[in-house]
Amino acid sequence: MNKTRIAVLVSGGGTNLQALIDAQTRGELPSGELSLVVSNKPGAYALERARAAGIEALTLTRADCGGQEGFEAALTEALVSRDIELIVLAGFMSILSESFTRRFAGRIINVHPSLIPSFCGKGFYGLRVHEAALNYGVTVTGATVHFVNEIPDGGRIILQKAVEILPGDTPESLQKRVMEQAEWIILPRAVERVSSQIQKEKEPKQ
Ligand code: GAR
Repeated sequence: MNKTRIAVLVSGGGTNLQALIDAQTRGELPSGELSLVVSNKPGAYALERARAAGIEALTLTRADCGGQEGFEAALTEALVSRDIELIVLAGFMSILSESFTRRFAGRIINVHPSLIPSFCGKGFYGLRVHEAALNYGVTVTGATVHFVNEIPDGGRIILQKAVEILPGDTPESLQKRVMEQAEWIILPRAVERVSSQIQKEKEPKQ
């Protein structure tokens, strides 16, 4: 059975992409194959990580595509022409439209740096999520991998992992601990789980 072909959408540093690349190298993604990386930000370091790992890397920006609709049309063409079956949002800082999420229903997953339903939805991304957790005064936060639907951070949860907040934490120190102790662990596991489900769906029925 062919492996599930995976595209990773990124906007920045790409440490979650790196966690996926490392997991694949260690043989921990047996059901999937990292096949394409797409950045919506030119020069994102994640693109370098993709190229260093021998994965095709593309940049598509809203500005170059004449707006969100054009961006999503170009993205859809890139995904479909490469037979991508699973789309992973890994630090992808743009909200996809309902028509895009419906077109790929059950085939898009996202990693979010909090325990959903806390500190999520529109406006909660990157360091802002950790600032909000610290401002609220929670003592435990974490990360969530979930399916993506038309509601920002609202799709079915696949995996979560809790992380303690420590005295003196800053948004930066908390972001680092949440990545190390949660995101980089649960994202590869969730990608393997969904890749394997997609392979099972492709098996001929008895
Ligand atoms: C990660 O913490 C990811 O969970 C978060 O941005 C960071 C990207 O880091 N994503 C969101 O906030 C999306 N709502 P990375 O580029 O090093 O993977």
